Amino acid sequence: MSPYDTLVFRHKEDRCNMDFVMPKLEWDVSYSVGVASFDAQHKYIFNYINELRDTMMGKKGHDAVDKILVSLLDYTNGHFFNEEIMLFKHEFPDFDVHKAEHDKFLSEIRGLYVRFKAGETDSRLISAEIIAVVTELLQEHIMKTDMEYTSYLNSKGVR
Ligand SMILES: [Fe+2]
Ligand SMILES: [Fe+2]
Repeated sequence: MSPYDTLVFRHKEDRCNMDFVMPKLEWDVSYSVGVASFDAQHKYIFNYINELRDTMMGKKGHDAVDKILVSLLDYTNGHFFNEEIMLFKHEFPDFDVHKAEHDKFLSEIRGLYVRFKAGETDSRLISAEIIAVVTELLQEHIMKTDMEYTSYLNSKGVR
C-alpha cells in the first residue's frame, strides 16, 4: 500500500467511523413544534451542526471550525430570544422553566467554546464534543420542552 493509499484508506475509515459515531442531523416532521418560523430556525441550527461536523471531518483548520462555532452560537442565541419573546408575549405559563433551559444550554456550549478558544484540546476533539453535546441537548430540548408550547401557541393563533 502506497502512502497515498494509506491516506485514502485512513480517510475513508475516518469517515465511516464519524458517520457511525456522529450521524448527520436530518430534520423531519417528528421535530415539528407547530410554529413555522421556529421549525425553520431549528432546521438552520441542524444545518450549522452538520456544517461543523463536515468542517471537522474535512480536517479544516482551527479558524474554519471557529467561524462555524461562532455562527452556531449566535444563531442559537437568536433563536432562543425569538422563542422567549413569543412565549413572554403570550404569557406562556412555563416561561421561566423554558428560559432556564435555554440559559443552561447556552452556558454549556459557551463553556466548551471557551475551552476551544483557550486551546485546551485540539480543535477536532473539542468540536466533536461540542457536536455531541449540542446534538443531544438540542434534540432533547426540541422534543420535550419546545413541544410543550405547541398547543398553547397554536391556541393563541401562532402557527
Ligand atoms: Fe427551539
Ligand atoms: Fe426552546
